[in-house]
Amino acid sequence: MNLGRRISVIVAGASLVGLLVTSCAPAAAPQPAGKTAGTSQTTTGAPAKSSGVITVYSGRAKGLVGPLLDQVAKDIGVEVRVRYGDTAQLAAAILEEGNRTPADVFFAQDAGALGALSKAGQLTKLPDNILNRVDKKFQSVKGEWVGVSGRARVVAYNTQTLKEADLPESIWGFTDPKWKGRIGWPPTNGSFQAFVTAMRVLEGEAKAREWLKGIQANSPKVYRDNTTAIQAVASGEVQVAFINHYYLFGQLKEKGEYFAARNYYPKKGDVGALMNVAGAGILSTAKDKKAAEAFVEYLLSDGAQRYFAEQTYEYPMVQWIPTDPRILPLSQIQAPNIDLTNLDDLNGTLKLMQELGIL
Ligand SMILES: [Fe+2]
Repeated sequence: MNLGRRISVIVAGASLVGLLVTSCAPAAAPQPAGKTAGTSQTTTGAPAKSSGVITVYSGRAKGLVGPLLDQVAKDIGVEVRVRYGDTAQLAAAILEEGNRTPADVFFAQDAGALGALSKAGQLTKLPDNILNRVDKKFQSVKGEWVGVSGRARVVAYNTQTLKEADLPESIWGFTDPKWKGRIGWPPTNGSFQAFVTAMRVLEGEAKAREWLKGIQANSPKVYRDNTTAIQAVASGEVQVAFINHYYLFGQLKEKGEYFAARNYYPKKGDVGALMNVAGAGILSTAKDKKAAEAFVEYLLSDGAQRYFAEQTYEYPMVQWIPTDPRILPLSQIQAPNIDLTNLDDLNGTLKLMQELGIL
């Protein structure tokens, strides 16, 4: 297709995204990075000094990553200018800006948005010293983006009315009529939509439609975000909700151990236990590639990884950084095998959900 047509399609996509997606907020109000974040150590253990200024488009909220990004200049001498926004909207903006994009690095909340840029040829291959820090499952097959922190899909359940044994191994189990009136979901949430995209990729369009209709038949209560959904689970308004794992730990911190919800991970490679990542990629048009690489390397430094583990309760991508001990270890999640780059078709998911009247 010609350029004009391509841009109009992208713009149409961008506005659709703008209407139907809300960002996936962090679980906890983050603390200033202090000594936990941004040590002057790099992945090689040596201080990396790089002069230069970079522009980062961040789909991760300022309240969450701001304290970390503020450390970058001090620690590695790279001046970071940040444009914050919704991940899907920033990806659409970069696609629309094309070669003229001011973005040097895209820091995205989910892999699908990075996959969209990779497929459009807008990302460049990352150096091996960066890629080698992270499990191959959590990076682009072409080496064009890398996971920075992991977020698992879970079923939050009410601990006063349910035990793990009452919960089905597969997310399909919730289409059983016995769950009628007991389910909560946040359909405008970006991570929920990425999960639906994963179901379309893994099980096909028809099955994804069937699952959504099956849940709709059980009259799910709609929540505006993951936090309100898990609070409804704990209060008993609903018994289960489909959300990301880290919201629980934000609530436990705020409300204490008696908060009556916990996380359940579907089993046997079920898409309900999808592991997605927030990640970063460098634009092929980046003006100072060295500085951009130093920045991505910084996100995978021990200090930054500890920041994500301790402040946002996500899974660190660097293996030797410990996950919060209350969180099911990555090695025990029976997550589905999926190339996360293929979660790029958000618009297809939005159209499906619209057709079914969910959005
Ligand atoms: Fe989130």
